[in-house]
Order: sequence, then C-alpha cells, then structure tokens
Amino acid sequence: MDIGIDLGTANIIITKRRKGVVLNEPSVIAFNKRTERVVAVGEEAYKMEGRSPKYIAVVHPLQDGVISDDILTQALIREMIDVVAGARIIKPRIVICVPSLITDVEKRAILDAAMSTGSRKVHLIQEPLAALLGAGISINRPVGNMVVDIGGGTTDIAVVSMNGIVTARSLKIAGNKFDQSIIRYVQNKYQILLGAKSAEKVKKTLCNLYNPAEDVIAQVKGRNISRGLPDQCDLSEAELSEALEDDINEIGETIRRVLEETPPELVGDICANGVLLTGGGALLGGLEPYLTRMLGVPCRTAKDPLTCVARGTEKAFTRRDILLDGFERIDAYTQS
Ligand SMILES: Nc1ncnc2c1ncn2[C@@H]1O[C@H](COP(=O)(O)OP(=O)(O)OP(=O)(O)O)[C@@H](O)[C@H]1O
Ligand SMILES: [Mg+2]
Repeated sequence: MDIGIDLGTANIIITKRRKGVVLNEPSVIAFNKRTERVVAVGEEAYKMEGRSPKYIAVVHPLQDGVISDDILTQALIREMIDVVAGARIIKPRIVICVPSLITDVEKRAILDAAMSTGSRKVHLIQEPLAALLGAGISINRPVGNMVVDIGGGTTDIAVVSMNGIVTARSLKIAGNKFDQSIIRYVQNKYQILLGAKSAEKVKKTLCNLYNPAEDVIAQVKGRNISRGLPDQCDLSEAELSEALEDDINEIGETIRRVLEETPPELVGDICANGVLLTGGGALLGGLEPYLTRMLGVPCRTAKDPLTCVARGTEKAFTRRDILLDGFERIDAYTQS
C-alpha cells in the first residue's frame, strides 16, 4: 500500500495509489489539556474551533507554512494515517509533501511521525514538484515550467526543469492573509468586525478580481465595533477587489521577480507553456485573467487546484524511476 500526503497549513489531503484522494480534512487537532489526549482531528476538530471549553485546545499545528507545534503535528499525521491505513499486514510506503520553508529539524519530526505509524519507507517531496506532477506535466525534460501554489499560509512560486527547482520564492501572503485583509477593510470602512470564517466565505463566493462590479453585492455579518452588538453591511465585488488588491499585486510582483531571476531559455518555455496556478487561492474569482493581464504571460488554473499537490504525491510512486533523481537531490530522505 502506498500513501501520499499533502500536509498543508489549511488542509491535509491523503491519497492512495490507484484510488486517488481518500481523505481531505482541515489541518486541525483538538487536544484535552487535562488528560493530555487527542479529542478530535480534522473536520470534527475544526467544528469545535471557537466553541470549546477552556480545557480543550483547538490547534492549527501548521501555521504560515511552518510547523508551529511539532508534537501536535506528529499526532495529527499519525491519526490521519491510522484512519486511511487501518489495521494491515503490509506496511505502507509514504510520500509526504511538506511546506517549503520548514527546517531540517521539522522534516525530521515529520519523518519520525510517519515512521512511527509503522510505514516501510518515507519520502519527502517538495511542493512545486508535486504540484506539477499532479497537473500531469512532465518535469524530467530540460523544459522550464512555472508553478504558483497559493495555499492557506504561503504562496510558493517555483520554476522547475529536469526534476529540479531552478528558481523559487515563497511569501506569506495566501488564503489566510486574504481573509485578514477583508476583515481589516470592513473594519475600517464600516466599523464592523467580521469573524475569520465569514471573511473566508465572502472571499469564496463574491470575488471577481478581473472586472469587479459595483452592483454585485453580498451581505456580511459581524459585530459593530463601537456598540459591541451584531451588525451587518453590504459588500460589493469592487470593494472586495479593493481589499485584496495589495496582496494580489504583491504576489504578481514576486512572480515577476522570479521570472527575472530565471535563465532566459527557461523564461521562453514558460511564456509558451504558461504559468500553472494551484492551491485553494487559485480559485479566487478572476485571478487567472488578472495575473495574465498583469504579467503578460498566460496563467492557467490547474484542474481541481485544491487537490493538485496531493494527486502529485500519488503519481510520485508510479514515476519513481524518473523521480528518484529528483527525490535524492532535493531534500528527500529514505529510511528502511
Ligand atoms: N473558492 C475559493 N476561492 C478562494 N479561496 C479559496 C477557495 N477555496 C479555498 N480557498 C482558500 O484556499 C486556502 C486553502 O488552500 P490549500 O488547501 O491549497 O492550502 P494548504 O495547502 O493547506 O496551505 P499551504 O500550502 O500554504 O500549506 C484557504 O485559505 C481557503 O480559504
Ligand atoms: Mg499546499
């Protein structure tokens, strides 16, 4: 049995070889501080967020693309692998895709967690490689491909050729930051404080970055800052675009900088092939045409961008002969 894991800031997605995605849940864990036991993980823990008594901590152990709590991250991985692997005789092999900014110590912690579930072998794979594989792009040829993965905590931009990363940059502007920017905008303009979940909802439903309209609106509910009571206001596509403008432009600027640092031959390939957008942030309404217009390079969103990286971890097994090279040269560890 082969298991692929995309360990993201917002979501943990697990694939099985030939079965595709078998688990897709928020990267959240609820922990009883009195008994020091795990109460719930994933969706169930996410529902407890903001609704639990003091002695239960509901934690996002990965934040901004880095591991903020390694013990709870390990517990989360173990619980999730147990769910999909169950009782078995043959021990699984695992490929884990990890956030790009983690340290060697953190990599070690993740490997240990995966090994402690009884797996035979654990490989780590870098996110951009997995994202391209997931989108069905062959990465072993001497051809440049660019991928921009906009997740919850980080946006990772990379140019890949011949199984390796040529140029890359990562910035901490992604889904969570978009939500915060919406909250700040509404707070300044309407003196209403939104919850993070409300901000995320309006981001997913109302967003139109490319040609936002003044008269397409949605109602948002929060708390009036001065009166302290529930309140609501209407938000238009134009206002939402204004709230997100700085963040999106900064992502665009960083893509431009990566292109500047990339050798010209590869830039030529990228202009011909286009820039691949993955991660939940790629679903932002109008992002694809907005970035295409800003950069003058065609951008296209991967099919099902939320699971693209995870599906890449599944494919990594079937392409191991091609990937071995990439596995070893890039921070990949093998234990047997
Ligand atoms: N339709 C949508 N429109 C805009 N944003 C969306 C949409 N669907 C999901 N998102 C956002 O995508 C983010 C999660 O994306 P994803 O699952 O790719 O992140 P992750 O892999 O867990 O994080 P990271 O890669 O940073 O560790 C969340 O911030 C979520 O709000
Ligand atoms: Mg991700």
